[in-house]
Amino acid sequence: MNRVQNRRSVQIVGLGYVGLPLAVLFVEQGFVVTGVEVDEKKIKLLEEGKSYVKDLTDEELQAALASERFRPSSRYDDSARAETIILCVPTPLSDRATPDMSYLHAAVTEIGRRLRPGQLVVLESSTYPGTTSEEVVPILEKESGLKAGQDFAVGYSPERIDPGNTKYKVRDIPKVVSGLTPTCLQRTEALYAQTFGQTVPVSSPEVAEMTKLLENTYRLINISFMNEMAMLCDAMGIDLWEAIDAAKTKSFGYAAFYPGPGIGGHCIPVDPLYLQWKACEFGMKSSFIELAEKLNRNMADYLIRKVQERLTGGLREAVIYGVAYKKDVGDVRESAAIQLIGRLLDEGVRVAYHDPNVPTIRIRNRQIDSTQLSDELLNKADCVFIMADHTGMPLRKIVSEARFIVDTRNATSGMEGRHIYRFGSGNVGLVRKNPLS
Ligand SMILES: NC(=O)c1ccc[n+]([C@@H]2O[C@H](COP(=O)([O-])OP(=O)(O)OC[C@H]3O[C@@H](n4cnc5c(N)ncnc54)[C@H](O)[C@@H]3O)[C@@H](O)[C@H]2O)c1
Repeated sequence: MNRVQNRRSVQIVGLGYVGLPLAVLFVEQGFVVTGVEVDEKKIKLLEEGKSYVKDLTDEELQAALASERFRPSSRYDDSARAETIILCVPTPLSDRATPDMSYLHAAVTEIGRRLRPGQLVVLESSTYPGTTSEEVVPILEKESGLKAGQDFAVGYSPERIDPGNTKYKVRDIPKVVSGLTPTCLQRTEALYAQTFGQTVPVSSPEVAEMTKLLENTYRLINISFMNEMAMLCDAMGIDLWEAIDAAKTKSFGYAAFYPGPGIGGHCIPVDPLYLQWKACEFGMKSSFIELAEKLNRNMADYLIRKVQERLTGGLREAVIYGVAYKKDVGDVRESAAIQLIGRLLDEGVRVAYHDPNVPTIRIRNRQIDSTQLSDELLNKADCVFIMADHTGMPLRKIVSEARFIVDTRNATSGMEGRHIYRFGSGNVGLVRKNPLS
């Protein structure tokens, strides 16, 4: 395989939640990095040194730009000069809940047209097993006229970041790596070994693709299981949160998962459906995924039903605290809060929301802006839903001003009040002194 000129140079395609922090990490490790991003608004912000990814500070971005080894661009022009091209483009679901490969196809086509002998192309996007070999390689070969594994190398290495998690930085998460051939694997592993604390080589791209789906499917199923247990505990008057705390004292055979308002984000509710879609090709389906997905989809209805059971005057006005899909992120993709708001609007409920990380949302073709969490707003609403327990949430104010609270995050643990329904606590706000009587 011929070598391209520029050693230790990387092009990262797709500067979103995954690609941008990865680009900065490569810069920090001494690489020359060009980033390709089709969204001109993001390019403008980057050029101004403004990070739109919560886990990356403006200072970190500005340091990368100041090094003069990071150049974001809306064009693929530098592809041919980079030693490695890493793809971090979206892999969402289509309207029919099947894999939407359009972003990947578009990006791979552009790369294929500029591909040079000796380059390494690595896919990081989460996707179904077989994507690298069956989707990426044929497009690269067709567009370039080169042969994968001979003229250029191909790898797959799943991104495993946990947005909002300050304990595990990108670099500290072991990097699963794979290649189309043993040489491709060597190249992929050598690249990430320079950037990450630990690499985990596996035998094929399919295994690496499956690894990512396994992790996320495991989370979908276990969180959905906890949501079902929370519903059961609500009916039985038992505090599931307390039971989980007790169960996790066993240091083997139990991993703690927690109930919540429904599973959101770009990965966990989406990736298992990629696997389910691929399973169909083999005449198979995962009943666990099917059930978990159904449970997840029904969470908003369950919460609304619980409120309607409790509120004699009905639910006409609601306030949502936190519309991001989880604590301390600003991402609303597949967020349970967005689904809840949609359902409330369908029912004719007036909805206001507050989220320090999400200034505005679009829902049912209308824009709603985050509003100040005033005493009056809280007091006027029939119900306040706590959907994401962001750091700095004014919990005491919410508890003292709201007339009724649905707490889906256990934020009010230890707080007393007939007006608090803590999901999964066994106390739905109806006050049952002895839960088992
Ligand atoms: N967000 C996460 O927490 C996370 C974690 C692990 C894995 N992943 C996976 O990583 C991939 C990227 O996710 P993300 O959250 O960063 O998405 P994102 O939407 O934040 O970022 C993707 C970026 O790619 C850009 N883009 C789209 N098409 C392009 C093209 N043809 N050329 C150049 N840029 C293009 C988009 O404008 C966007 O900025 C997905 O497969 C996702 O499942 C995401």
